[in-house]
Order: sequence, then C-alpha cells, then structure tokens
Amino acid sequence: MNGAEGKRFSIAVLAGDGIGPEVISAARRAADAAASRDGASLEWVEYPFGASFYLRTNEILPDSALKEMSAHSAMMLGAIGDPAVKPGILERGILLKLRFEFDQYVNLRPAASLPNVPTPVPLNGRRIDSVVVRENTEDLYIGLGDMSDAGCVDAPMDLKRAGYSATGRLSLRISPEMPFAAQVALNTKFAVERITRYACETARKRGEKVITVVSKSNAVPALYGFFEDTARETANREFPDIECKVANVDALCYHLVRSPAMYGVLLCPNLFGDIVSDLQAGLAGGMGTAAGGNIGDGLSMFEPVHGSAPDIAGTGRANPIAAVLSSVLMLRHIGLDKSAERVERAVSRYLESSRRQELPIEFGGDFTCGQIEEAIIKNI
Ligand code: NAD
Ligand code: IPM
Ligand code: MN
Repeated sequence: MNGAEGKRFSIAVLAGDGIGPEVISAARRAADAAASRDGASLEWVEYPFGASFYLRTNEILPDSALKEMSAHSAMMLGAIGDPAVKPGILERGILLKLRFEFDQYVNLRPAASLPNVPTPVPLNGRRIDSVVVRENTEDLYIGLGDMSDAGCVDAPMDLKRAGYSATGRLSLRISPEMPFAAQVALNTKFAVERITRYACETARKRGEKVITVVSKSNAVPALYGFFEDTARETANREFPDIECKVANVDALCYHLVRSPAMYGVLLCPNLFGDIVSDLQAGLAGGMGTAAGGNIGDGLSMFEPVHGSAPDIAGTGRANPIAAVLSSVLMLRHIGLDKSAERVERAVSRYLESSRRQELPIEFGGDFTCGQIEEAIIKNI
C-alpha cells in the first residue's frame, strides 16, 4: 500500500497547436502508466482551444472554460501559436490569460544534464543542474501599450491581479509626428516578494545557499533596480541562510555560455526569465528536454518551455521529453511523487540504454516523436 492507492485526479489538458498534440500524447501516456502502477488514476479532460478552434469559431478562450478548468487538480498544456494567426492573439489570449487568471505567479523551469544527451558547450565533467524561477504575472507582460501611425499613443490600463489592481493610462505624443510604439512594464513589491520567497525556498530544497537575481539595473534602474532591491531585501530579511547575488542579464548570458554548470537558482523578472530559460534549454541539450510549470495557489499548469515549433510540426522530429518531464512536475505537484520518479527514471533509462540511432532526432539519432513515446512507456 502506498499513499497514492485509489486516488483519482482530474487533469485538464490543452494540447494546442503545432507539435503540442504530438508531445502531449507522450506526456499523458507516461503519467497515466506511472500513476496506475501506483494505484492512482488520472482522468483527462480535453480542451480544444488554439489556432484551428479560433479560425473555425472566432473564439479564443471563453470565460466558461476558465471557470470549468479551475475545478481540475492540474492542467497540462502543449503549445500555443500558429503562423496563420497574428503573433500575440493566441499567445496572450490563451497562454498568458491562463497564467494571469489563475495567478500562476511562478514559472519554474529546471534545466538538467540528461544521460547521453550531447551539449553544445563542453561541461568538463560537471553537470548542469539549474532552475529558472521566473516571475510570471508582471514586467513587460502586463500588456499596457500600443503602436501608432499618427504620432500619439493613448492606451488605457485596467489591470487586475490577485493581490492588487492598477488603473490609469499611457499617454504619449511624439513630435515631429511619426509612427512609433510604446509599452510599459510594472513590477510590484507584492509580486517580487512572493517570487523571491519561492526562489529562496527552492534553493533550500535543493540544499543550496545562494540565489542569483537576474537584473539590468544599470540601464533600467527603476524597473529592475526595484526588482533587485526588493528581492535582496526580502531574501536578507526572511532567509538569513540564503545569499542573494545579483547578475546583470547580459553578463549572465555570457557566463552561462562559457560555464553552463555554474548556476543554481536563477530568480528572473518575467521577460529575462523567458529568454534565459531558452538559453538554458539549449545549453542542457535542446528545447525538446526543457520542462516547465506555471504554479500558483489555485490551478497550476504544466507545459514544456518550447513553443508549437511549426517548422517541424507533423514531421515526427519533435522531441516529447520536455512534455514528459513537465508531466513529472505535474505529478509531483498533485502529490504523486513516486509516479513522478517512475517517469523521470524511465526517461533516463531510455536515454542511457539507447544506441545512437535510438536517440531523438534532436540529438542526432533517428527516433521520431512516436518512437520516443513508445520507448519511454516501455521503461515505466
Ligand atoms: P519554438 O520553441 O516553437 O521553436 C524554437 C526552435 O526549437 C525551433 O527550431 C523548433 O523546431 C525547435 N523545437 C521546439 N520544440 C522542440 C521539440 N520538442 N523537439 C525538437 N525541436 C524543438 O519557438 P518559436 O519558433 O519562436 O515559436 C513558434 C510558435 O510557438 C510561435 O507561435 C510562438 O509564439 C509559440 N510559442 C508558444 C509557447 C508556448 O505555448 N508555451 C512557447 C514559445 C513559443
Ligand atoms: C514561453 C513563451 C511565452 C512567453 C509566449 C508564447 C507568450 O515564450 O512560455 O516561454 O513569453 O512566456
Ligand atoms: Mn519562451
């Protein structure tokens, strides 16, 4: 008997666009197989939102769906975005809307070396084992801004977040009159404090004594100076065992490329976290391995770091390991730690035991998305 025996969970699943459905298939089957080995069961409730639903119905994400989703134990998402739809419509209308509506204030994106996976930079015997803790509700992502052909931007803001609301407008005139764009970022004490706590707790769980705040206070002192100062003060006040270091994002990228294994917890404002997590993914082996979770006090949502990859959708070249490892984060989140470990071990065993041809196409092998899925399932 283990703690999972007889437990049932309902999981919302939004496979989305491009390679989303291909990689989500593997994530679902792996989570199912592991959970049932532990006597638990997952009931998947599918949502159709994404490019083809939008092009067919003109609906992006109805409020009724949000309400229904909130009742699930967790959510898995494949990817959102399609070349047939103007950038931003679906990404903001679905992905960011879910993150904001459910106040998923942490975007947790671990990057770890995997067996047999080649890295573009020599690791000199070290392993990459770092994690981006990305603030997931603010910064340049709040959506206050506009572009203008007529020399005048006048954009209203009516922002609602779990801990506050903000109203006002961005009003700018440019002379001589010319087309321009302006967009505003926001970081609050409320959000920076809570993400800093999460980063420090993550460091403690990992047995580490340092977090690195990713900043750019030299060029953008109000926004990132505030983020940096608030993070440092919070860490110093509440986590005396954790040292809070600061790195400017440009230098951090340089150091990451030269020495990818040198960082642990990277605490990032929203935009830098987005960028640094792709860099980390590339350094650890590839986009097809980078898992993520959008975590909050309500519905949390698990998704790979990568997007819908229209350049390889439908070709079998997609690597589903990122989605499968996102299901590991999901299983842990709902308390199925043993099942999570089973899936994680199955991924490692598949990679460890593979001859070159059996590795994902992404790593120079021949295995397609479906073949990788089968190989992982076989190892559970
Ligand atoms: P992308 O992450 O989709 O692709 C970047 C590169 O990585 C491409 O060359 C792609 O082929 C490769 N790649 C991605 N996932 C892979 C996998 N699992 N296996 C092997 N290779 C993989 O980023 P992009 O090209 O900038 O964006 C494509 C679309 O996805 C856009 O519409 C974008 O807005 C959207 N997007 C969505 C999410 C999300 O839903 N979370 C994240 C990023 C981008
Ligand atoms: C990600 C993506 C999204 C982001 C886009 C699609 C809005 O790049 O999840 O990393 O910027 O957060
Ligand atoms: Mn991204």
